Amino acid sequence: GYRAEDDYDYLFKVVLIGDSGVGKSNLLSRFTRNEFSLESKSTIGVEFATRSLNVDGKVIKAQIWDTAGQERNLVLFLLNLRKESNFDHGRARSGQCFNLSFILFLNLSSYTDRYRAITSAYYRGAVGALLVYDITRHSTFENVERWLRELRDHTDPNIVVMLVGNKSDLCHLVAVSTEDGKSFAEKESLYFMETSALEATNVEIAFAEVLTQIY
Ligand code: GTP
Ligand code: MG
Repeated sequence: GYRAEDDYDYLFKVVLIGDSGVGKSNLLSRFTRNEFSLESKSTIGVEFATRSLNVDGKVIKAQIWDTAGQERNLVLFLLNLRKESNFDHGRARSGQCFNLSFILFLNLSSYTDRYRAITSAYYRGAVGALLVYDITRHSTFENVERWLRELRDHTDPNIVVMLVGNKSDLCHLVAVSTEDGKSFAEKESLYFMETSALEATNVEIAFAEVLTQIY
């Protein structure tokens, strides 16, 4: 029978997470618009895009959320700074540092509170996640653990998570082996795939697998 273009059976929210520059926004644009940009800018705030897929004769509409990996690192830095400034606080009670550290403390409090509010809104209702690292930068793989913790803290335990090693086209620059990615994923019960948003390798499969597993 006739189906309107925006008709769907299921709507699933999927979030993209991972360090800045790993390629989250390009994975999203590759999957939803078949576009890639070599000079994409770091994401500001939260963006999302949708795409519908057919699974078992049902139309699944994926609403994929994307945000900057950068802000989180900044917040972790600020939280540490805040701890230190609290410490100074006590030490410098009668000193000149008091005003400065107090003002800093207030500013950071409102900033980190705002970040927490945005973070929980970002994860709210998510039933799938792509946790992305860059196979050419080992630090982005090391941070996967922290991203996973944040994800687990904010989402339902049944969420479908795919660990994604992106930029597989840069094979001459590999810093994280496929084996390391795979064994971490096994240890944490995550799905795993290596992708290239540039060459459109495995991007479709990675998203489709997450959506199919949710369904
Ligand atoms: P934030 O928004 O800062 O969190 O970064 P992001 O994770 O969204 O990264 P983005 O998609 O903006 O990509 C960062 C850079 O990596 C850009 O220069 C992209 O062109 C490049 N890039 C993304 N995916 C690939 C890929 O598969 N292969 C190669 N070679 N470059 C990629
Ligand atoms: Mg981005």
